[in-house]
Amino acid sequence: MSKKVHIKTYGCQMNVYDSKRMADVLKPHGYEVSESADDADLVILNTCHIREKAAEKVYSEIGRLRATKDEMAAEGKNMFIAVAGCVAQAEGPEMMRRAPAIDMVLGPQTYHRLPDMLKAAEEQRTGGRKSARVLDTDFPVDTKFDHLPTDSDFDGPAAFLTVQEGCDKFCTFCVVPYTRGAEYSRPVADIVAEATRLVAKGVVEITLLGQNVNAYHGDDGQGGTASLGALIRALDAIDGLERIRYTTSHPRDMDDELVFAHRDVASCMPYLHLPVQSGSDRILDAMNRKHTREEYFAVVDRLRAARPDLALSSDFIVGFPGETDEDFEATLDLVRRVNYAQAYSFKYSPRPGTPASVIEDQVPEDVKSERLARLQALINEQQVAFNEASIGKTMDVLLEREGKMPGQLIGRSPYLQSVHVDVSKADNALDAAGDKPYSGYMGKMVRVMIVEGGPNSLKGELVSTLH
Ligand code: 5AD
Ligand code: SF4
Repeated sequence: MSKKVHIKTYGCQMNVYDSKRMADVLKPHGYEVSESADDADLVILNTCHIREKAAEKVYSEIGRLRATKDEMAAEGKNMFIAVAGCVAQAEGPEMMRRAPAIDMVLGPQTYHRLPDMLKAAEEQRTGGRKSARVLDTDFPVDTKFDHLPTDSDFDGPAAFLTVQEGCDKFCTFCVVPYTRGAEYSRPVADIVAEATRLVAKGVVEITLLGQNVNAYHGDDGQGGTASLGALIRALDAIDGLERIRYTTSHPRDMDDELVFAHRDVASCMPYLHLPVQSGSDRILDAMNRKHTREEYFAVVDRLRAARPDLALSSDFIVGFPGETDEDFEATLDLVRRVNYAQAYSFKYSPRPGTPASVIEDQVPEDVKSERLARLQALINEQQVAFNEASIGKTMDVLLEREGKMPGQLIGRSPYLQSVHVDVSKADNALDAAGDKPYSGYMGKMVRVMIVEGGPNSLKGELVSTLH
């Protein structure tokens, strides 16, 4: 009999990838993915620990799930609640104490052991326990990548593919080196095989994922290691793979091979998320970022020399311990000099166990809020300007999903902008049956002329269908 698993994903794209793999691993054991937690045999919360609110959201979700679990128990049914991901890794035993409704806790590196964990939980339950107590937050030597099947059904023309995981950089604010462990790169051959399978299913755009993706150094099958630039060239050879993106990169690992991939490899998209976190050398040093602002500018110059239309994005943290007005002004100055297409900014949030969390000189909350608002206003201005500059340009858009308006499809430009395209007046907009309008365009790469540009999206008019 088939069982239902509901997986709720928080945080980064790597968690989205991991959630899909968990679904794959459970499928042969009779579990079908369900959109709702109601009546699910297993609910997995795939959690994020990067900032405070992320973990708090998980606890409130468990509170809601407990009610459903209790209702189901009253009807003689069982729901297992599993917490996976980075909160599980960082706070597993504490979570089990704090929330007795949790049956299982598994870290990001043990997903392939889910079926065994379920078996253990089932044994405990039939042994009479109300909740099972199964915990696995190892960093096993045999990696999950060696075990995880990747047979997800096709769900769109753009897919994620994890190529690297973990981080050895130890920025002083960050939990990732503790929750995801040491840097690990998958072999080139495994990645090419997975990408080839995805393309065979109809995927045309792949985003390579890694906490430190450009530190990638996977086995090249010839006794050496390949850099990310070399990996991108290997993937570019796959027929039908039209777009390659990668995230997230560290400024120190932007080597020439990668920079030149942006110049030479047509499928390597002209967009780069290159977090700098702060524009002040003093703060960069306290963050252990291992580069100065001038070094960051130099990386940006090399990239723009190789690919002049490259759109840049970044992450910023405001209110890092000890950050003065002058430090913050240096961040604003850096933003003005680089000119971003978009960027994410966050208030510093002390993460337990990280060096920065115990620095005495924490910045007051109201100062953080005020700085965040100023930084976001500047970033927003640049984003609007970038989008407005697209008006009148013709570009390729990969249509990925339906919009809210009838006949509207939404896709991404090469620069990762969201583009709304009305295909209702186009030839062959209706498919043969006529009852599923515009499906002929879904998943396709089209050429559009940009006619409007808002802060968060563009509007494009169809010029031609490419494929
Ligand atoms: N506080 C605030 N922001 C953080 N980030 C990581 N750790 C923290 C923290 N402790 C941000 C960084 C990182 C992004 C994924 O999250 O900007 O690049
Ligand atoms: Fe965290 Fe720094 Fe590693 Fe990025 S490079 S994952 S911010 S420790």
